[in-house]
Amino acid sequence: MKIAIIGAGYVGLTTGTCLAELGHEVICVDNNLEKLEKLNRGKSPIFEPGLEELIIKNQTAGRLTFSDKIKPAVEQAEVIFICVNTPPKDDGHADLKYVEQVAREIAGTINGDYKVIVDKSTVPVKTAEKVKETILRYGAGKTNFDVVSNPEFLKEGTAVKDTMEPDRIVIGVDSEKARDKILELYRPLIEKTKAPIKVVSVRSAELIKHGANTFLATKISFANLIAQTCEEAGADALEVLEAIGLDERIGAQFLKPGLGFGGSCFPKDIAAYKKTLEILGLDNSLIHAIERINLEAVRRFLRKIEKELWVLDGKQIGVLGLAFKPDTDDIRNSPALRIIESLKKDGAKIKAFDPQAMNNAKKELPGIEYAENPYEAAAGSEALVICTDWREFKNLDLERIKKLMVTPTIFDGRNIFEPKVMAKLGFRYFGVGR
Ligand code: UDX
Ligand code: ADP
Repeated sequence: MKIAIIGAGYVGLTTGTCLAELGHEVICVDNNLEKLEKLNRGKSPIFEPGLEELIIKNQTAGRLTFSDKIKPAVEQAEVIFICVNTPPKDDGHADLKYVEQVAREIAGTINGDYKVIVDKSTVPVKTAEKVKETILRYGAGKTNFDVVSNPEFLKEGTAVKDTMEPDRIVIGVDSEKARDKILELYRPLIEKTKAPIKVVSVRSAELIKHGANTFLATKISFANLIAQTCEEAGADALEVLEAIGLDERIGAQFLKPGLGFGGSCFPKDIAAYKKTLEILGLDNSLIHAIERINLEAVRRFLRKIEKELWVLDGKQIGVLGLAFKPDTDDIRNSPALRIIESLKKDGAKIKAFDPQAMNNAKKELPGIEYAENPYEAAAGSEALVICTDWREFKNLDLERIKKLMVTPTIFDGRNIFEPKVMAKLGFRYFGVGR
């Protein structure tokens, strides 16, 4: 099938590449020329395990191309995916200006052939209706199209795997013709993975995405609430949460306490859902609580550092991890950035290391030192602060780290080490909820 993907970011690039891998003919359109230049050289503009290999493979096979021209891509495509960013506005609302812009461009391009336009970006409920209205308004009477919601559930760091082996495929359609087209599109994947297919109304599909992300964020904030309780009551949050998660109705995943959730999705999506609840006249205090606990996770962690180190002014602090989670170079809403900003404000000298995110961090965080490796970040530091649970940090030579530090003190925001082991090794060690 001929596919156009508009917006080659985390979602669009992964979706487009995986659809090409399934055998479709895909053009990814983006208006960021720097990104396109990299892609056309077979380089992924983002670090995402397995993605670059798949891009090169499908480019070479002639199934995947990149362009800045939306018109020819839309003209030849049977299915057009809108994958542009939907950043938050000041009031929490999702800013849909890029979605509208793309809808207008599609309207100016579609001809008489039937097209399915798919909302892949995470958007508030009823956005597809607005997209349809926009295309009708600017499309000079062209009506031979349907708008579908087909939310993406990929996680950064495992985006390719999540797309190729999804837990479910959600297709929000209000027309049989569009349903059949999207089922045909996913047939190779459906045959391969046997993922459950949920064909629902467009509005339901839009709410499934916001609902799923809000529930996952709720689990994380709940885990952090338990961690706070354990710190005050002298219990161990990992013991408590592991046993809670063994209940099949609850499940063990997304119950890791730490520095709270960051990234480009959860903070934005729950804020947008909170706004939706407000607009619908519903109680959104649950979402306020999730957000408050999430902020408190970082605040408590900072208080621990301040209490232990007393005066921060002039002290060197090593920071391990800048990305909002491991296996990505994404620093959007990363707790590490908030922690560094706060420590810097108190006069601390920061020496940071991240295996993938330092290039992105250098643009956002000038005025700190960047180390070549974790050991360099530890050398001469009075404390090490772990902000991201990269696998390689778990295998550090801790004896070497101890010798390099001025005072062997570790604040472990992701509980990657065991308190008892760390104490035995001679560290002053502070985890979360332990
Ligand atoms: C999320 C959703 O998981 C995905 O389905 C959706 O499509 C996009 O948003 P992503 O933001 O890539 O994916 O990362 P995710 O793995 O969900 O982690 C989000 C944040 O929560 C990270 O900052 C992570 O460190 C934190 N987290 C996750 C915890 O603090 N504890 C946990 O138990 C799990
Ligand atoms: P996400 O994480 O949701 O995928 P990103 O910000 O990573 O979001 O990606 C969105 C992509 O959409 C960016 O590469 C951006 O350049 C692109 N984009 C935004 N507006 C347009 C537009 N009008 N036409 C083409 N591409 C666009």
